[in-house]
Amino acid sequence: MNLDEISAAARAKVEAVKTAAQAEEFRIEFLGSKGLLKQASDHLRTLEPVHKREFGSKLNSLKKEIEEQYKAATERIKHVATAADVTIDITEPGKISVDPYTPGSLHIINQTIDLLTELFSRMGFSVADGPELEDEFHNFEALNVPRHHPARDPLDNFYLQRPAAAAPFMLRSQTSSVQIRVMETRRPPIRIVAPGRVYRPDTVDATHSWMFHQLEGLVIDRGITMVDLKTCVDQFAKGFFGSDVQTRFRPSFFPFTEPSAEFDILFHYADGSSRWIELGGCGMVDPNVLAAVNLDSDIYTGFAFGLGVERVAMRRHGIEDIRAFYENDLRFNAQF
Ligand code: DAH
Repeated sequence: MNLDEISAAARAKVEAVKTAAQAEEFRIEFLGSKGLLKQASDHLRTLEPVHKREFGSKLNSLKKEIEEQYKAATERIKHVATAADVTIDITEPGKISVDPYTPGSLHIINQTIDLLTELFSRMGFSVADGPELEDEFHNFEALNVPRHHPARDPLDNFYLQRPAAAAPFMLRSQTSSVQIRVMETRRPPIRIVAPGRVYRPDTVDATHSWMFHQLEGLVIDRGITMVDLKTCVDQFAKGFFGSDVQTRFRPSFFPFTEPSAEFDILFHYADGSSRWIELGGCGMVDPNVLAAVNLDSDIYTGFAFGLGVERVAMRRHGIEDIRAFYENDLRFNAQF
């Protein structure tokens, strides 16, 4: 029985003790009733008197040493910091590397959406939303975009792979899908705007992104006419860009409206020049769309419009490159 080896083993093992369970293991191994020290004292009794004295006193001091190690280890464990030990001074100022007194703000896209919805709410619109992960019925079919229409080309949309038999999901390519979602669940009068993200696999450049934001508008009631649409667009443009802006409609085509138009504003630049800028599309809701949601087009008519949130924000703030919205560069974000 080699006491030096027991001593070395105890020193090595006590270091590794990190938990109460490990401390107990240590105790049992060395100090337990069948532990190494007990074995050593059993051995002591078998020794010749001449060897007894030396072995006995060595064993005694080893016993003390290991008892102390055990005690120290249990103390050490007790002082491992627990969450309750950490006191947090909630009155301390935070560590901020910029100006500590500059509060953050909403992203300019969210500010623009807030401003748009606030403007429209003053005109009696409420806010609706729908899923970004859509099915083809809501994104196309019910909006009078038939199966083989070029707008449904897989190259122009983000379709998601699903098991062969299942109808594909897609990332919605337009917020017009929310028109259908709303008309499915509510009866007229309907007067909503729906802001949100849309996705198209466009090549990214200064004016294109594979994700951007639109704001959709929909009004359905008895006796709604194109005059209501023009008034609404004009009021919005003046509210958003200033009362001196002019608006104009150009004839266009969208599957879900008939007649359809694109609307422009005459935008005045700082250098005194001005240019017509296209803001969005609009029109009178096509009777086929009303039929898709079981609304009788002999009773109800309506108008719809859609505009690009980035586009109006770029005009309003003189932002040249759409990519600035998504880069999260504080030097850009902090300007708004
Ligand atoms: N959804 C169209 C687009 O993404 C925009 C649009 C055009 C929306 C005409 C409308 C509308 O509601 O009536 O290009």
